[in-house]
Amino acid sequence: MPRLEVRVPLEYELDQMLQVMCDAFDLPFDAAKTVFYTDPCFDITHKRVLLAEGRIVSCLTLVPARMRIGADALPIVGVAGVATSPELQGQGLASHLLKQTMESLQDGPYAAAILVTSSPSLYKRLGWTVVGCDTRFWVQADALGHKPARPRVRRATEKDWPRIEEIHSRTLGLHHGALIRDRMRWDYVRRFVQTVLVCRDATVSGYAFLQHDEAAPLCRVLEAEAQSPRALCDLLRAAAEATGAEVLEVPEAPGRIDSLESMGIPCDHVQEAPVTVLAIVLREEHGAALRQAELALSPADHF
Ligand SMILES: CC(C)(COP(=O)(O)OP(=O)(O)OC[C@H]1O[C@@H](n2cnc3c(N)ncnc32)[C@H](O)[C@@H]1OP(=O)(O)O)[C@@H](O)C(=O)NCCC(=O)NCCS
Repeated sequence: MPRLEVRVPLEYELDQMLQVMCDAFDLPFDAAKTVFYTDPCFDITHKRVLLAEGRIVSCLTLVPARMRIGADALPIVGVAGVATSPELQGQGLASHLLKQTMESLQDGPYAAAILVTSSPSLYKRLGWTVVGCDTRFWVQADALGHKPARPRVRRATEKDWPRIEEIHSRTLGLHHGALIRDRMRWDYVRRFVQTVLVCRDATVSGYAFLQHDEAAPLCRVLEAEAQSPRALCDLLRAAAEATGAEVLEVPEAPGRIDSLESMGIPCDHVQEAPVTVLAIVLREEHGAALRQAELALSPADHF
């Protein structure tokens, strides 16, 4: 067994950590470097690396946040970017890193660690439990009907952001499992979303965050809030127009599929592996609430 050590990386080791992530996630190093170092949430003390015989072979990033659980806003820590060098995978390295990291967080400030994945088996073996499912569905763009004579959806401008933040705080931000968005988290969300649409009635009353790839016929709606099913339909139609997408992937929110289907718009469940939300309880007094949580985490909040 090689000599293993888990710790916070030193400043000069960050490029090595990033290299492990790039190799594991198949990312180009130079492009990833800019994103890595300019992340508004970047904090070296939240990184963890596993060294085998002095070389970084596995890593992860902790993302402290507050999560709405019922009426409370509990401090939690997200786990993101779990990666092992491809040639060393399958030897228990990520398991060791995760176990040691979770042990070091026991009885600290966080109620639980949370992560989002479509391959939960590794984490389940380590005692993580499924506490939510990020349900998404597909809508065909041509099922959304024709553009209204007076479109009420347009691209957002800088001036729309305070209103978007206000709408979120009164709607999706109150949902069970929503992350509390402070300034830093809003900066992260703004950086992450590619296109933002707003829906205007007397004033801006809804919005949609989009992510899409020019070559792909699919547009992911990361988050959408609208005052009525008709307004949601207008946002989705405008999303398809703005991106040229044929299919929209939309996150479920209570009653959303039912209301679209009642307007004659068919909704198909996404067929890929479902995205699950997993948790490991770090402070037992919150165990019961978290184990039955059924958390709905917005795709725009994924760590
Ligand atoms: C996931 C990953 C970090 C596991 O690292 P590792 O050091 O090989 O992990 P361990 O040896 O402790 O455990 C291996 C288990 O990881 C799981 N695993 C493999 N690929 C995985 C993936 N892409 N996502 C999640 N789990 C994965 C499998 O359950 C595997 O168990 P098995 O060999 O019995 O099937 C590594 O495969 C990796 O870097 N993958 C690419 C990046 C990635 O997808 N990260 C996960 C984001 S949630």
